[in-house]
Amino acid sequence: MKKNIGNAMALYPTPAVVVGVRVEGKATWTLVAHVGIVAHDRLLVSLHASHYINQGIKESGRLSVNIVTEEWLPKADYCGIVSGHKQDKSTLFESTAGEEGTPMVNESPLTMECRVEDVYACNGFENFICSIAHTYADESILDERGKLDYNRLKPVLFEFPTYQYLRTGSVIGQCTEAGKQYEKSQA
Ligand SMILES: Cc1cc2nc3c(=O)[nH]c(=O)nc-3n(C[C@H](O)[C@H](O)[C@H](O)COP(=O)(O)O)c2cc1C
Repeated sequence: MKKNIGNAMALYPTPAVVVGVRVEGKATWTLVAHVGIVAHDRLLVSLHASHYINQGIKESGRLSVNIVTEEWLPKADYCGIVSGHKQDKSTLFESTAGEEGTPMVNESPLTMECRVEDVYACNGFENFICSIAHTYADESILDERGKLDYNRLKPVLFEFPTYQYLRTGSVIGQCTEAGKQYEKSQA
């Protein structure tokens, strides 16, 4: 029997990302782990309305989503404890401007440049629904066919209940294979 532990948010782990925008011409970076997929071509970035970065997102209608990997986790984590309201974070990363003009973290092997399509305000959070304008991937995380390979990328994962970062695990199977095997066994 499962124990009812209340209405705890339990949809973890999620990937940790650093969101990048410009505010008054300067890059700023914020760590976000409440992110998600909406339909097949939209993503969600959930940011508390009090954060410094939100003004830049709303003004430009653009943001970069930089997947965090272990190599640069300390700097990504720093973006999650220091606010641009108090500290200029513009020089924290070497960055490159994408075609939409957003600053992108050079250390991140995978960056999506996004356009804000909608904002869903809820309980003090601004939830940005974004389309993906461009995806920039380092060659080292692409397979022989040029597809993203998450065995090579290894995004850092986050979970809130004990406030920890996790590694991704190993491959346990090809999607739909186990279901087909099960289907056969029931026939
Ligand atoms: C692991 C981790 C995950 C975080 N995830 C989120 C998040 O999903 N949404 C959010 O609004 N803040 C999140 N934060 C908090 C912000 O990153 C933090 O308050 C940051 O300093 C805000 O920066 P800014 O004011 O410069 O935008 C997270 C912090 C950490 C350490």
